[in-house]
Amino acid sequence: MKSNRNSQDPSSNRKGGTPFWEKMQPKKKTSFERKTDPLERTKHRPVKHGAISKEKGWDQVAKWYDQLVGDEGSDYHKNIIVPAILERLGELGGARVLDLCCGQGFIGKLLLQAGAARVHGVDASPQLIESAVKRAAQESSLSYEVADGSAPGAWADGSYDVALNIMAVHDVENLEGLCHNLANSLKSRGKALMVFMHPCFRMPKQAHWGWDQEKKIQYRRMDRYGTAMSIPIITHPGRAVSETTTFYHRPLPVYFHAIKQAGLAVTDGEELFSHRRSQVGPRSKAEHFAAEEFPMFLLLEVQRLAI
Ligand SMILES: C[S@@+](CC[C@H](N)C(=O)[O-])C[C@H]1O[C@@H](n2cnc3c(N)ncnc32)[C@H](O)[C@@H]1O
Repeated sequence: MKSNRNSQDPSSNRKGGTPFWEKMQPKKKTSFERKTDPLERTKHRPVKHGAISKEKGWDQVAKWYDQLVGDEGSDYHKNIIVPAILERLGELGGARVLDLCCGQGFIGKLLLQAGAARVHGVDASPQLIESAVKRAAQESSLSYEVADGSAPGAWADGSYDVALNIMAVHDVENLEGLCHNLANSLKSRGKALMVFMHPCFRMPKQAHWGWDQEKKIQYRRMDRYGTAMSIPIITHPGRAVSETTTFYHRPLPVYFHAIKQAGLAVTDGEELFSHRRSQVGPRSKAEHFAAEEFPMFLLLEVQRLAI
């Protein structure tokens, strides 16, 4: 990089205009260096379980998932996730929206009602896409395709104003590929919303509620957090050979790193809490308190950096 004495660039130093980083010598070892590489944590550790597993993606649970979510979304979609998304998006005013990892596509019609001109859904499960296509019926502004959302695809073409990735980032092995596609699908400064299980408080097999009898509080226990792990979710517990889907747990910096590497910037974040409340009973007050203290989902608003 050439220096420019008259540069107004605040990163130039005053004397010669050469940015300070160009003058830096290779780092000498100090006693303050980290003992471990922080990126080591981004490598997934497989979690073993008793049954022999066969990872088959979401096709194997497509029928169950389609029924659970239905035409308007699951209980959590309807009460927590969709209201948060629609409030943030506001009037969509003819926007083109990509629904990345769209599943059975329930949100498509809601986005059209919010003013979107067109919604395109992409998902790896042919059966869920089949349901989405049926659900869209004759609605020509909704379109769907089967594709790996983390692999390069013609659909990630920089033509979208908004992209969504709902409850899916932890189902995708290749986070970097997914984030690159989110970025590539968006117009310059286009916005994406990612909603997923809050990794600080929700992690299959490693997060639990507990009851402290002395303090009369319901506490949240996390047995692990700081290591990326791939956790098999057994579809039919109890069977010797069971199909599984995989949940990819990642500590927060792994997300921030992948988002940044993809040319996106986190512009806002929100923690979403469960609306569910337990039956009236001796512990219900403490349970309600805990439900309002420990979030369930994390929403990240990200923006494609100007191109
Ligand atoms: C929990 S479902 C969420 C679906 C939908 N967004 C919703 O909120 O109902 C996770 C989805 O991620 C999809 N998925 C997982 N890995 C994927 C990949 N590599 N590319 C595209 N979709 C993927 C699955 O097929 C599944 O539909």
